[in-house]
This record gives sequence, structure tokens and C-alpha cells, in this order.
Amino acid sequence: MRTKVGIVGAGPAGLLLSHLLHLRGIESVVLEKRSREYCERRVRAGVLEQGTVDVLNEAGVGERMRREGLPHHGIELRYGGAGHRIPFEKLIPGRSITVYGQQEVVKDLIAARLAAGGEIHFEVPDVALHDLTGSPYITFQGERLDCDVIAGCDGFHGVSRPAVPEGELTFFEREYPFAWLGILARVKPSAEELIYARTERGFALHSMRSPEVSRFYLQVPPDEQVENWPDDRIWAELKARLETVPGFTLETGEILEKGVTPMRSFVTEPMQYGRLYLAGDAAHIVPPTGAKGLNLAVADVRVLTQALDHWYRTGSTELLDAYSATCLKRVWRAQHFSWWMTTLLHTFDSDDAYGRRLQTSYLDYVTSSDAAATTLAENYVGLPW
Ligand code: FAD
Ligand code: DHB
Repeated sequence: MRTKVGIVGAGPAGLLLSHLLHLRGIESVVLEKRSREYCERRVRAGVLEQGTVDVLNEAGVGERMRREGLPHHGIELRYGGAGHRIPFEKLIPGRSITVYGQQEVVKDLIAARLAAGGEIHFEVPDVALHDLTGSPYITFQGERLDCDVIAGCDGFHGVSRPAVPEGELTFFEREYPFAWLGILARVKPSAEELIYARTERGFALHSMRSPEVSRFYLQVPPDEQVENWPDDRIWAELKARLETVPGFTLETGEILEKGVTPMRSFVTEPMQYGRLYLAGDAAHIVPPTGAKGLNLAVADVRVLTQALDHWYRTGSTELLDAYSATCLKRVWRAQHFSWWMTTLLHTFDSDDAYGRRLQTSYLDYVTSSDAAATTLAENYVGLPW
């Protein structure tokens, strides 16, 4: 078999890349380890930056997102017994985020690819990458797929990054001493906007998916087991961390899904080796507090599409050669923002009274100064491409 771009992974990065390339007449084949059902049901991100929404709309896959997505024009920071709104409409007029589940984006992209005759192979367990600096090819299930280039879009635990010989890439990493327990519940959101709550018991986040379904996260120990969290313990802890302002009551309901996510910052430099280009979580991870991971994946494949298109049209590798440097500028801004939001809002075991007061001081600053609040707002909705 032969294709122009061999894509490993059918997450948001791989699927969107395949779709954007198709719109420019560049053929690709996507190889995915999991089943289609698994990919479509995996509950993860929910916040789409303005630029991500624009890319999906321009690519013709935004119809359901426009109908079902929830535009938000602010978030609340809740701490010290009070809620403080960060008003996007005042600080960064005309820019907003859209709350729309990642698995819905994945469903829309899979449907678009298949409708256009796109090739996605699901449940391919044994993908391996070869000859990355020569004539690259991918083997799977006894087949060989020859490609002009390979896009490694297979997430943090994929095979693409480890296929690069040792010493060719540099990794930058930070682990955090906590994880997030995430739940999806059949209950109407208890607030109209997202609430990022910092408490002495740890961080909590109130998010949502629809007028009937809410999403919540709790800071938990790093090696926490889901089994330790029966439903009533989850609701009790969410209430303890969110019912901290007068008049706020958390609605409870049936819990549909639970999972624990470790928190990590990670960057690969460069995001390229020979004819392998890494995109999305395969190249970098952020802790989810800033809601940046999915959005960075979209930004990467947007850059990669333009670079590949330029190469196929002109023969010039100029944009491809610049791929890593172009992406890493945005990646490092998001790294800093995600680390900063995480540090600002979580409880650290090592917290001394001094560190805690620094957190409070910065929260007070962000919630009282338009300059500081604008820094948060413009990073949160996403800086211009
Ligand atoms: P993935 O979604 O991980 O996709 C990689 C794909 O490759 C998967 O389908 C996988 O099965 C496949 N794969 C892996 N190995 C192989 C292999 N060997 N062969 C073939 N296929 C393989 N980001 C945001 O922007 N906003 C948020 O609000 C947000 N919240 C989050 C909340 C949680 C709880 C979590 C866990 C993440 C959150 N993120 C958020 C991050 C976001 O979900 C990821 O950054 C995003 O999924 C990255 O997309 P990707 O396509 O690069 O990787
Ligand atoms: C969601 C996830 C995040 O990481 C975040 O910062 C905000 C919202 C969500 O899944 O809804």
C-alpha cells in the first residue's frame, strides 16, 4: 500500500490532520489501535478555544458544534469564600470559548472522513515505524504502508515518539504531586459558567457538556484508584469544595463515567525527526487546568497541513523545516499558562503558609486588576495563531 501521509492515531490530531489534508487534495491513511466506539466514547477535554472553533467551522465540520456547543464568555475563580468572574466580553471583546466534548469533535471528524471515502483502520494493534530518515513506511498486521511522510498523532503513550533513536530528541518534563478524578453526571449544571475552585481540601472544577449533563474534576492523590471513590463520596467532596459561597447549591445526579488523569507537563524538542512529524499529545502534554491540550493538537496539525500543502505545491521544504519551531512557540506559551493555572489553584502537600499566601495574593491580583485578568483571559481563550 502507498499513501502520501501515513497518520498514526485517530484522536483529534490525527483525524483533523487527515481531514484538512483531504480538503487540499492530499491523501492520507489513518491507523488507530482502538475501536471506533472506544475513540468516540473516550471522555476527555471540553473547552475549545476560539481558534479551534474557527478551524473546525472553516473545515466544514462545525455544524453540530454550532448547534450543540455552549459558547461561554467568562469563567469563575472561587476561593476564600467568594466567587470572582473573569469577564471575557469586557477584557477581550469578541473572543470566547465553546464547551463541546472532545468525543463529539472526534465523532464529527470520523463521520466527515468516512463520508468523504477517507481511510481509517481501527483496531490495528501492532503499528511500527521504519526508515524515518529515508523512505518511511509503516507496518501493521502483516501489511506495509509506504508514505512520503509520517504524522505521529498517537498521543503520549504511542509508538511514534519512541521510534526516534535515542539521543535525537530532548525532553522537558515536570510531574505534579496530584491527579484529577473526572466524572460525567446526568444532572443540569449548577452554574452557567465554569467554576475553578481553590480550597484547603484541594482543587475542584465545575464544567458541563449540555443543559442535562455536567462534568466535574477533583484534585486527588497522584496514585488514586477510582474504586476509592464511590458516588456518594464524590458528591460529598464536590459539595465540600464547591458549596463555599453563599447561596450556591450543587445539584447531584447519576454518575455516568469516572476516571483518574495524572498531571504532567512534557515537551519534545524538536517535534520532528527525518520524515516523522509529531503532533498533539505525542509531542507535548500539559496539565488540564488551562484546558489547552486539545487546542494545541489542533494548532499543530493546522501548521503541519500548511507546511505539507506548501511542499506538495512548490517542492519547497521551507515550512516543513520550520514546523517544529513554529509549533513550539505556541506550545511553550501553553506550557507556561497551564503550569501557572495549576500552581495557582491546587493544594500542594509541601504548602507552607508562605506559599499559600503567595497563591492568595496572586488570585486577589487576577480578580481585581484588569491587566492581570486580561493575561488570564487572553491565554485561556487562546492567543491568535
Ligand atoms: P489522543 O487524543 O491521545 O489520541 C491519540 C490516538 O492515538 C488515540 O486514539 C490512541 O488510541 C491512538 N494510539 C495510541 N497508540 C497507538 C498505536 N500504537 N497505534 C495506533 N494508534 C495509537 N484539552 C483541552 O484542550 N481542553 C480541555 O478542556 C482538556 N481537558 C482534559 C481533561 C482530561 C480529563 C484529559 C485526560 C485531557 C484533557 N485535555 C484537554 C487534553 C486533551 O484531551 C488531549 O490533549 C487531546 O486528546 C490530544 O489529542 P491527540 O489527538 O494528540 O491525542
Ligand atoms: C474541562 C476540562 C478542563 O481541563 C478544563 O480546564 C475545563 C473544562 C472539561 O472537560 O469540561
